Amino acid sequence: MNEERAFAKVNLTLDVLGRRPDGYHDLSMVMETVDLCDTLRFTHGGDGVRVSTNLPYLPSGPGNLAAAAAAAFQRATGIALGGLSIRIEKRIPVCAGTAGGSSDAAAVLRYLNRQTGAGLSLEALRDIAQTVGSDVPYCVAGGTALAQGRGEVLTPLPPLPGCFFLLCKPSFSISTSALFGQIDRRRLRRRPDTKGVLAALEAGDLAGVARRLYNVFEDVLAPRQGRVVQELKNRLITAGALGAVMTGTGSTVYGLFDAEAAAQRAREELRQSCEETFLCRNV
Ligand code: C5P
Repeated sequence: MNEERAFAKVNLTLDVLGRRPDGYHDLSMVMETVDLCDTLRFTHGGDGVRVSTNLPYLPSGPGNLAAAAAAAFQRATGIALGGLSIRIEKRIPVCAGTAGGSSDAAAVLRYLNRQTGAGLSLEALRDIAQTVGSDVPYCVAGGTALAQGRGEVLTPLPPLPGCFFLLCKPSFSISTSALFGQIDRRRLRRRPDTKGVLAALEAGDLAGVARRLYNVFEDVLAPRQGRVVQELKNRLITAGALGAVMTGTGSTVYGLFDAEAAAQRAREELRQSCEETFLCRNV
């Protein structure tokens, strides 16, 4: 099948441990995959790799991570792809902390591995993925996982019990590199209880995970953005979420719910204060 789905991710926790000599940061993040997804359709023929999407402002050339992934696959395997058109139906919000671009790139790698018969292992595919972006190795297989190093050192975790996520994307986007720059300049007040989250996952304790959702980037947001994020979190909790947090470098905030009806009611309430909401469940 010339089609592949690319799922969004959310951070249950996000900790920045320090800046590395290569300019990146060492991270410790518990990640989860949700069923909000883009669809990629592949057509062979023509010249070179071209990407098009339903969002005309996204790049169609190497600036698109999907095209970068195809180029990286070609370089690493020596397999000539010839002409390839990738059409992406975007549903995952863009620049939102939900790994939309990284997930599209990972979907391209999975598709090419299958279609060309390259038969690369998950590890080999992740090695290629890390040349495309820090979140791409996680997106190759997704699931509940601990991501360390730049994001490429992955440990599978016991799956998060089935639950519902209400994602709320504020109208502003946040620059990832600028936010990492803020982290370097500021002293963090609090860190996530990553060990506690791992223990709660081990015990299948959804409420224990929800209580410990935490992202250090919330601490270093610009004041206006910080107020919007805090306000959305408050509204989600008031509406019945077991926990609420910003994902990645934002600006999406989500609430975690144990029942779909509660998440749906919260969506109705949150719609007034947030234009873009997505109700999804973990994959
Ligand atoms: O790897 P990726 O291109 O997705 O990273 C985007 C930006 O995020 C980097 O240029 C860097 O500023 C920051 N980053 C970081 N440490 C990481 C991942 C990303 O500093 N582990």
